Amino acid sequence: MNHHLPSLQQAFSAAYPGAPAPVFCRAPGRVNIIGEHTDYNGLPVLPMTLAQDMLLAVAPRTDSLVRVANTSAAYPPAEFRNKWPLGPSPAGAWDNYCKAAIDGLNQHFRLTAYPGMDIMATGSIPVSAGLSSSSALVVATALAYLHILGKTLDKDITRIDLATVLAEAEHFVGTRGGGMDQAIILLGAEGQASKIDFFPLRVENVPLPKNHALVVCNSLVKAEKTGDAQHRYNAGPRLCRLITAIVEKQAQEDFGEEVEIESLGELWLGHLCLTHGEVAALIDTAIPRERVTLREAARKLAISTDEVRKRWLGDLPEPEGGFPLKARARHQMSEYRRVEDARDALLAGDAATLGELMNASHQSCARDYEVSCPELEALVAAARKAGALGARLTGAGFGGCTVNLLPQAAVPGFIKRIQQDYYERHLRQQPPDNALFVAQASPAAGYITG
Ligand code: GLA
Repeated sequence: MNHHLPSLQQAFSAAYPGAPAPVFCRAPGRVNIIGEHTDYNGLPVLPMTLAQDMLLAVAPRTDSLVRVANTSAAYPPAEFRNKWPLGPSPAGAWDNYCKAAIDGLNQHFRLTAYPGMDIMATGSIPVSAGLSSSSALVVATALAYLHILGKTLDKDITRIDLATVLAEAEHFVGTRGGGMDQAIILLGAEGQASKIDFFPLRVENVPLPKNHALVVCNSLVKAEKTGDAQHRYNAGPRLCRLITAIVEKQAQEDFGEEVEIESLGELWLGHLCLTHGEVAALIDTAIPRERVTLREAARKLAISTDEVRKRWLGDLPEPEGGFPLKARARHQMSEYRRVEDARDALLAGDAATLGELMNASHQSCARDYEVSCPELEALVAAARKAGALGARLTGAGFGGCTVNLLPQAAVPGFIKRIQQDYYERHLRQQPPDNALFVAQASPAAGYITG
């Protein structure tokens, strides 16, 4: 039995006296091993689930009120009427993640009646740490709501379809994320990593390296999904969509007007079916210099600068010299290859190669994608010094965690060194209990019995 269940049950009964006996659902956090900022372009990723999870107790109501509460005082109780469409709560309110799931399912099933429910939540996934605590809440709420609707997972909606629906539904909170988090949370496997492809969603489980461990280290820099990091995160998808438009234009000039490319991944995986070399050549022609100014982009696309902003960039400030489109495209191309190579390395049980790929991924995330920060750099450097075969930022970046590959036997020494070098010497503080841990891939999200 999950050891958090009795206290969750108690908190549920205290908050909702007289409610029917609750059902429990669970959704794990995740750590991404490799494949960063590729999912929203339809390019693969390679994450695994974590033992840390989000647990919900849920019971039906006779009206349409949805009440959500949390065992942590950091998340105050909230309530709203279920209807379609749901209006968002103020930015940063945690019930927006619950609303995202409910709104997505209301739309998916084209419901005309909107039942209410009482939810009590408790979570052990570090928050704002790049470990998907928010998507775990979205998935757990979706499972809770499916139960209230009398719908069965795998029968009324497959896990693949639910992951696809929820990836889109989570845009409700304003982050233009891809589908990695919802997919690994719903389709991951105990003790394994998963290579995930998109459009359409496919999952291949791959073994984790024997006698090795993946250690997660929290930089303690909060990467809040709703704060400033959200804006910086969205810059990635925005620039990639502009790159896609410019490359589409180039492909139309090269191959004919009928070519349509909606995401960068389609260059390889869509009807064009280009090789890595052909993609690189096309991008070189479309984006010959490192930076592209707003005016240059508008000229290339034969539209106004206002239109470029309206369609792709929004209010993203133009950096000196223009947007670094070439470097962003370079990261997409190189990271895609690294994910494929990492999958092969895992299948071959080759931890050394996986480590090298993780190191190269970090470098690309830091230099070409610019999603690192000084603390993540210090933490990665400390990890390499402490013997990690591979060390890299994981998740959206701008703070949050790193993931580090080590021989099993080296883990205790590694943890001690990081404690001294990063937390004590660099940050000058003692790490909280859950700042450093060995990742354990737990079962995918589901219902649990008490
Ligand atoms: C966040 C998003 C994911 C993915 C990662 C970066 O976690 O939710 O979809 O884009 O960032 O790889």
